[in-house]
Amino acid sequence: MASQIEKFGDEKAKVLPFRPAAGGSRSGPRPYQDVADIIYTLNPDFPVYCFNRRQLELQMNRFGTGFPGEVAYAVKANPTPLVITALAAHGMRIFDVASLDEIELVRDVAPQATLLYDNPVKSRAEIGRAYAEFGVRSFAVDDEAELHKINAVIGADANVQISVRFKLDVPSAVLDLGTKFGATERAAVQLLRKAAGMGYQPALTFHPGSQCTSPASYTRYIEAAARISADAGIEIGMLNVGGGFPVPYANAVTPALAEYFRAVGQAFRRHFNGGRCRLLCEPGRALVAPAVSLLCRVKHRRSDHTIFLNDGIYGGLLEQFMFKVEMPIRVYRDGFHLGGPSADFSAFGPTCDSTDRLPFALHLPDAIDEGDWIEFGLMGAYASATSTHFNGYSSEHYVEVLNGFQE
Ligand SMILES: Cc1ncc(COP(=O)(O)O)c(C=O)c1O
Repeated sequence: MASQIEKFGDEKAKVLPFRPAAGGSRSGPRPYQDVADIIYTLNPDFPVYCFNRRQLELQMNRFGTGFPGEVAYAVKANPTPLVITALAAHGMRIFDVASLDEIELVRDVAPQATLLYDNPVKSRAEIGRAYAEFGVRSFAVDDEAELHKINAVIGADANVQISVRFKLDVPSAVLDLGTKFGATERAAVQLLRKAAGMGYQPALTFHPGSQCTSPASYTRYIEAAARISADAGIEIGMLNVGGGFPVPYANAVTPALAEYFRAVGQAFRRHFNGGRCRLLCEPGRALVAPAVSLLCRVKHRRSDHTIFLNDGIYGGLLEQFMFKVEMPIRVYRDGFHLGGPSADFSAFGPTCDSTDRLPFALHLPDAIDEGDWIEFGLMGAYASATSTHFNGYSSEHYVEVLNGFQE
């Protein structure tokens, strides 16, 4: 698969806003006009993910024009082929992948894409197949054992990039990934030296935590990256600032994306200017969350302001439960918005498990009843991707909609 072999460091990639791929087109069933059209046409008794291509392209353009470096997509946030295809058609060329399944998926849709295998822990079999079968040439590590594993499996190869992932103690995110991954600053210095000593292209990466609420965290991480590089005496070829860019959920207070881009740009210029270092980010959540809403149906209402939905925490609503993020909602009856006086409702999911309950009350029209629908906005990330089949319920039905859930 020689055509899929990637080379790093050949040239400094130009930073361009996203452009649709030449001949990029879409196929598949016709898009629905809006959610009312879905309700009239499908009368769906199952949960439906409503994908709005325009919103995805808008978000890609925001990153493409605003982020002061290259932009990759973290496939884990939403690996739905419809979404991956739309990203590739609109010019996404670099993908952060966490598993062989994700690698295969991206190779199917975008055979020439650059793949960053940024899961810091991989089995030897995964490393071997990623390298030999799928042409992956960039791997993350956060300890020496992983570096030796990679070296034992693929040997010396000057085209391979090793991204040393480090962490700092700056909790400013809803989901702190540093409890699982990341070398300390001191360990990162040694790792970077070792990777370079083995003949690999040295790079640094970090992830400030998902739904990160502080642009200053990126500044501190970039300062630390400069210290690690200087202490190791190694010039890095790439600094990957990870994901973490936040989404304006209903209960979140988040700075604008532009503030994150400014912080990253300023720190990068201050500490890496003049070098040959590429700058990259690999967001998942902030790229795809706004492009998808989830249409759920009310299965049952009790007189005590309790409702039962056809999806819950074992389906697309897991993040509400785990991280207490609250999505904006709209309510429909027969394709019309349902309004009127409102009240707080407790909401259960469809399984027989009592934990299958949203952690906060839903503020809904008092008249809501069996058969009505609730549309949750900002559902493109970590919703269908983490959905289970518990109790025989699952929600992976995607349709395309021309007018999406815009807040
Ligand atoms: C290595 C890596 N990159 C990027 C991401 C995407 O992060 P987010 O969805 O917060 O942008 C993750 C999320 O877990 C990750 O582990």
